[in-house]
Amino acid sequence: MIAAYEITLAQAADAPAIAALSRDAIERGLSWRWTERRVLRAIRDPATNVAVARRQGVLLGFAIMQYGDDEAHIVLFAVEASQRRAGLGAAMLAWLEATAVVAGMRAIRLEARAGNAPAKSFYRRHGFVEYGASPGYYEDVEDAVRMMKRLDNAA
Ligand SMILES: CC(C)(COP(=O)(O)OP(=O)(O)OC[C@H]1O[C@@H](n2cnc3c(N)ncnc32)[C@H](O)[C@@H]1OP(=O)(O)O)[C@@H](O)C(=O)NCCC(=O)NCCS
Repeated sequence: MIAAYEITLAQAADAPAIAALSRDAIERGLSWRWTERRVLRAIRDPATNVAVARRQGVLLGFAIMQYGDDEAHIVLFAVEASQRRAGLGAAMLAWLEATAVVAGMRAIRLEARAGNAPAKSFYRRHGFVEYGASPGYYEDVEDAVRMMKRLDNAA
């Protein structure tokens, strides 16, 4: 069965769930920086999109993407652990890419933890390539790989 997700811009009321998912799925082993307050700031920032995916009203994933002049940057991206490998990440990424194309972005960049094999595999599958590394990027606990996808040649 194909699960139906609703992907929309986040509301202020989503901030606690987004912050909790960031803490548990992304920032584990690091300081919790994406608190509810910071997520709220992102929701209100006109140069940032905070997207949420829901099924039957339940928040199952979120993504935060910032827009520059001609490139976008995925800052955070997570799917609830119990919902992974079911296409939700792909659906959210497609939503982000579509909005980036509409906004005239030429590329999307992101950082991932060097040891995060699932995330690297996920992004590679969707056309991102690794182009660099940042030693100690995550509080000197872990290195980052930098990845990007050009949107110029998108069909
Ligand atoms: C990375 C993440 C967002 C992927 O979301 P998802 O909903 O599972 O992704 P999808 O189901 O759309 O895509 C799955 C594809 O990604 C790749 N992938 C995802 N998890 C993988 C894993 N554990 N091992 C290998 N490949 C994986 C595969 O190509 C997979 O396709 P397949 O299931 O047909 O083999 C999710 O694992 C997650 O939230 N991880 C924790 C947070 C995180 O690491 N965020 C990214 C860095 S900020």
